[in-house]
Amino acid sequence: MMNIFKKKTIIDSSKIDNNKIPNHIAIIMDGNGRWAKKRKLPRTFGHRAGVEALRDIISTASEIGVKNLTLYAFSTENWNRPKEEVSALMELLVEYLKKEVEELNKNNVKINTIGDIEGMPDYAGEEINNAKELTKGNDGLAVNIALNYGGRNEIIRGIKKLHKDLVENKINVEDLQPNVFSSYLDTANISDPDLLIRTSGEYRLSNFLLWQCAYTEFWFTDKYWPDFTGQDLILAIQDYQNRIRRYGGI
Ligand code: FPP
Repeated sequence: MMNIFKKKTIIDSSKIDNNKIPNHIAIIMDGNGRWAKKRKLPRTFGHRAGVEALRDIISTASEIGVKNLTLYAFSTENWNRPKEEVSALMELLVEYLKKEVEELNKNNVKINTIGDIEGMPDYAGEEINNAKELTKGNDGLAVNIALNYGGRNEIIRGIKKLHKDLVENKINVEDLQPNVFSSYLDTANISDPDLLIRTSGEYRLSNFLLWQCAYTEFWFTDKYWPDFTGQDLILAIQDYQNRIRRYGGI
């Protein structure tokens, strides 16, 4: 398919095996604030640069045939940041969706969200729904944006939905298996991540996809998120392809 994404760095994907592309990649896009600080810029400039980096990653992931990309954009804990930074992040999200959704749609990208979307401001919720509605028929890369997302919060919400189905006899407690519980999570229709990437030299999960990462391969880089490029994504995938996944077996 012709790639019509506007901004695009040339990537060399010759070193990866096209038959072993991870189906689902999750990313903790960390280090925007430190990227800005290093340049004596306000933190919000770092987030803006982070959105630029995101463009390259979405276009690369789409081009090499990744099916799911789950991005940690705003956590349940991020509300504790100064209110100017919270508003700037919300505005960036809305601006990004407004500006990019047509192009994403043309490239067969489907926008999804995970997280407690009801807790998002109305104006953001509206833009999110527009983007989901416009792209719902696409079957290329699914970009799952985690908004007001926390793994523990998701598990508790899942338990509440499950409890309701148990009380209404829609499910038998004896039938509760891990795959059944997975279907009560926000990622119900998405396979577990094969590869999780975290930038900025931090080695934590920070409440991201706690249940889903049981057998995920992790890949870390010291680069701050705004410096992360499509070629870095290729590097992570190359490393992933050399791992042996045993899932507890031998
Ligand atoms: C972590 O950097 C990044 C975030 C909390 C937000 C990530 C958001 C974006 C990349 C842009 C908005 C997203 C979309 C989908 C348009 P940090 O601020 O924690 O950096 P620090 O650890 O260096 O302070």
